Amino acid sequence: MPLTQSDKADGIKAMYLEVLEGLQASPKRLPSKFFYDETGSRLFDAICELDEYYLTRTELSIMDACMEEICAAIGPRAMLIEYGSGSSEKIRRILDAPNDIRVYVPIDISCRFLQESAARIARRYPHIEVRPVCADFSRPFSLPHPRIATQTKTVYFPGSTIGNFHPDEAVAFLKNMAEIIGPGSSLIIGVDLQKEQDILHAAYNDARGITARFNLNQLVRFNRELGSDFDLRRFEHQALYNPQKGRVEMHIVSTDNQTVHINGATIPFRKGETIWTESSYKYTVEGFRKLAARAGFEPVTVWCDAQHFFSIHHLRVTR
Ligand code: TRP
Repeated sequence: MPLTQSDKADGIKAMYLEVLEGLQASPKRLPSKFFYDETGSRLFDAICELDEYYLTRTELSIMDACMEEICAAIGPRAMLIEYGSGSSEKIRRILDAPNDIRVYVPIDISCRFLQESAARIARRYPHIEVRPVCADFSRPFSLPHPRIATQTKTVYFPGSTIGNFHPDEAVAFLKNMAEIIGPGSSLIIGVDLQKEQDILHAAYNDARGITARFNLNQLVRFNRELGSDFDLRRFEHQALYNPQKGRVEMHIVSTDNQTVHINGATIPFRKGETIWTESSYKYTVEGFRKLAARAGFEPVTVWCDAQHFFSIHHLRVTR
């Protein structure tokens, strides 16, 4: 459905209120959802191709090596539910492998993008019933009732997006998921692992500065969509690994004392002050299993690469 002018105005208003709330808080922060406008999505795709950004490459290599087992884990006469279906590359690898998937439910917050990619999948795999759900998957939502009968439900959640939640939020999120899919259903989830600091540092501070552009693109977006006056020459990208908390902390740093205007509001910045834009938690296999247990999931299998950079867990909702 095309967006009307008033839908757009509502979206801008909601964005303005959230941005303002974050920038008036102390310390300043922004929610991660504003990363992904068209430019942001393109830059993120470019990040995934970087030499330094080992995550995507490693996850795909594990999938290729373990595809038979992954398809077995998805189970017989399956409904496969993909959380955040942006990247159709990963799902295609699964759908192209021998499997018994009957219904595919992609879930994404970006509705237009979702409809288009769902239609493409439906054309390519005509034997599968494709039932897209446009929803914010961090909130409760209900699953569609497919025409085709299924026996098992499996959620597929790749990309280590779970790492972008605070651990307590991750537990709440997984609890909500367990509730939606029910006892005995499966979760196959990509989780980035703790590793040497230098490797993590490089992954979030690439030499070509794509990650910096991705992080700072939010300010460009606010200037365009909210009419703010962020001076891009006076803000910098910063990503630091905090080994105590096991997370990469992403910030935008003000390189000067300055003020920024957003639609009548004035936001002061001290030199060196930062806006916290995202955290990316890194787990151990055991640490992630413990977290999932708090949400009612028991471990079935875990697949890792030889270097132990990344893990794909198969978990099951406890009966
Ligand atoms: N989910 C990605 C991750 O945690 C998001 C990401 C990659 C990111 N690079 C970034 C977020 C740089 C902010 C800034 O790896």
